[in-house]
Amino acid sequence: MDLLNNFTLIGLPYAALVLFVVGTIYRYRATRFTYSSLSSQFLEGRQLFWGSMPFHWGLLVLFLGHLAAFLIPETVLAFNSHPVRLLIIEISAFMFALIVLVGIVTLFYRRVTNPRVQAVTTRIDLIVEILLILEVIIGISVALGFRWGSAWFPAVITPYLHSLMALQPDISAVATLPGVLKLHIVLAFLIILLFPFTRLVHFLVVPLHYIARPYQRVIWSWNRKQVRDPDTAWTITRPYQEVPNFLQKLVPSETVELLQQKLISRCCKHRK
Ligand code: HEM
Repeated sequence: MDLLNNFTLIGLPYAALVLFVVGTIYRYRATRFTYSSLSSQFLEGRQLFWGSMPFHWGLLVLFLGHLAAFLIPETVLAFNSHPVRLLIIEISAFMFALIVLVGIVTLFYRRVTNPRVQAVTTRIDLIVEILLILEVIIGISVALGFRWGSAWFPAVITPYLHSLMALQPDISAVATLPGVLKLHIVLAFLIILLFPFTRLVHFLVVPLHYIARPYQRVIWSWNRKQVRDPDTAWTITRPYQEVPNFLQKLVPSETVELLQQKLISRCCKHRK
């Protein structure tokens, strides 16, 4: 039993954390193009919306809850000291766990039933989603079977996690926990371990700059047919397309020409 506890509660967490850091950095440097959620929205949108939205928003709340218990345990305990506040936090966490479960089950169902999505689904995509489903179901059963997690997490799990971070692992308390609780911890580290090898890396590259990005209008002013024709000779000024009437109303053709001249002069500068 000691060997199993040492392996799952010390060995696995360290292996997961080291692989997470080294693996995600290596993958970002080696194959940056794959560093994404590899969206399948253009293959199916409706189920994705009803799965992805509850899953991600619910997960965000649960993640922040776990993080608060890890970073500010005393504050969480002080907040929970009043029964009404304890009930509010417990019931909300439980509701969000159910929302996450509905979301991830919908996403999994979509991946295994929609033929178009199936075509771009790999085995590891399914393994990740099965692990996430198991993690949420076990989390829910912990919430039901071992009440007031927001009160005992800061007292039992936080010291264990802090001891791991301090490189002085102390599993004396967690080793005595019921099996289902230990399974919840072990699965969490297993999911962290899988991050660098799966689409889960996308959570590290949230495109936050999109929020403040200036508005863009894309207007195609080349003659698309000619540009795509392999027989068309390459020139700096690509085959120009007459700007359609409705676009001329939006953007005067002088502006389009001015932009083209600027592009050409910039391009020529680079070539010199
Ligand atoms: C930082 C916050 C996050 C953002 C902005 C985000 C965003 C996204 C986006 C845009 C997709 C693609 C949906 C599509 O196919 O178009 C996606 C898919 C996915 N995300 Fe996240 N995500 C985040 C965090 C996470 C985390 C923490 C997890 C799990 C631990 C996760 C698990 C997944 C899974 C499993 C999918 C695949 C769903 C499917 O297509 O079946 N995400 N995410």
